[in-house]
Amino acid sequence: MTIPAQGTAAAGAAALADPAFWTRPPTERLAVFAGLRALDGPVFVDEGRGRGHWALVRHADVQEASRLPKVFASAPGVTTPEPARWVRALFGDSMVNLDGPDHARLRRIVQRAFTPRLLAEAERDIDAVAARIVDDMLERRPDEFVAAVASRLPLEVICNMMGIPERYRPEIADRVNHASEHIGVERGLAARLRIPGRGLRALARMQRMVAGIGRERRRNPGDDLISALVRAELPGSGAAGAEGDGRGLGARQLGAFFSLLMVAGVETTRNALTHGLTLLTDHPDQRELWRGDFDRYADGAVDEIIRHSTPIIQFRRTVRAEHLLGGRTFLPGEKVVLYYASANRDEAVFGPDPDAFDITRDPNPHLGFGGGGPHYCLGAHLARQEMRALFRELLTRPRDLRATGLPDLAGSSFDNRVRSLKFTFTP
Ligand code: HEM
Repeated sequence: MTIPAQGTAAAGAAALADPAFWTRPPTERLAVFAGLRALDGPVFVDEGRGRGHWALVRHADVQEASRLPKVFASAPGVTTPEPARWVRALFGDSMVNLDGPDHARLRRIVQRAFTPRLLAEAERDIDAVAARIVDDMLERRPDEFVAAVASRLPLEVICNMMGIPERYRPEIADRVNHASEHIGVERGLAARLRIPGRGLRALARMQRMVAGIGRERRRNPGDDLISALVRAELPGSGAAGAEGDGRGLGARQLGAFFSLLMVAGVETTRNALTHGLTLLTDHPDQRELWRGDFDRYADGAVDEIIRHSTPIIQFRRTVRAEHLLGGRTFLPGEKVVLYYASANRDEAVFGPDPDAFDITRDPNPHLGFGGGGPHYCLGAHLARQEMRALFRELLTRPRDLRATGLPDLAGSSFDNRVRSLKFTFTP
């Protein structure tokens, strides 16, 4: 495959449609996005089998589309490929794929469950879990960062918040790993046919397990998030169907929310942490600056890691009403994809050097948690806290912590997933 650096519209669109594009080195992919941003308007990406989408690659366009949910809707699905109708009917719709009152109702239930008390407890817990992970790291001296460090923190924090018993956790970690490995990756027909079956069986088992915990918590409520979710009273919430009306989330909704949290909250944060280690290794000046005055630079450093690595590369929307955006009139039924990875390198906002890693960048209006609007990341605060807590431990306790190789990237078009990263340190 040849990838044009500053190519024509046709060449850029062909690159995005090719699964091999997502396995190319990040600098090559970013060069293609730079070329697409320089064009007069969005290009059409042919996905084959009569499908395709318009690529929104500029910061302003991604932000505008995110904030106009009546025009750019999330249903029937934001991932690629879209979830099949029967899958949604069987497993329940995830809030990320809903619009309007259906979405608002679910989001209200969840937001209510994130009480100040629960969040304050989570904050204390994050610091303790981060310290324990680094204790283990110093003692056992692992040489692979993702499994030993990065993936542990978000999984433990969310499982603690939800009150998931210890015995279920290894299986959950396995399922999440399995489900995320295949989102946005296409490797030939055989893989396409096999993966959905395996992924759905894993999902079904996880849903049954969470439904069981939900039933138990309805009878014996505790201080955890699942208890709050199954009990949350929502006056006037009867419009969206019988399940969960006025009594919190029903079994399927709870399962759908749990799966969403596991992928949206665990995968993303683990990838952000891992890319963070690579960035701090490649930019020792930035790392020393942060280490020298951790609290002063922490907010800026965390957001710059998110901008630079953009853990979620893209989400899709379906056009519901005619609308002019970025030089093109969109028509109902058309698909658009919001490329956060490109928006976060837009020279119009992050120029003159959008590729520089600069923890003092201010302002830093990146779209790593979404472009605003009703679906803006529900866990942005939690993710920032987790990154801050772990990097505090990593930068102040061991010496000379650094990556020793390149990250093994999954080649997904959906999330900037790192499978593994070798690292070293002096305890
Ligand atoms: C670095 C870490 C994270 C990144 C980069 C990230 C990114 C995103 C993005 C891009 C969206 C879509 C926004 C939109 O459509 O406008 C989103 C939505 C969401 N995120 Fe995150 N996220 C992260 C961590 C988390 C965590 C820790 C949680 C949970 C505790 C979480 C829960 C969610 C949920 C539930 C949604 C859907 C919200 C809705 O549809 O209303 N995320 N996230």
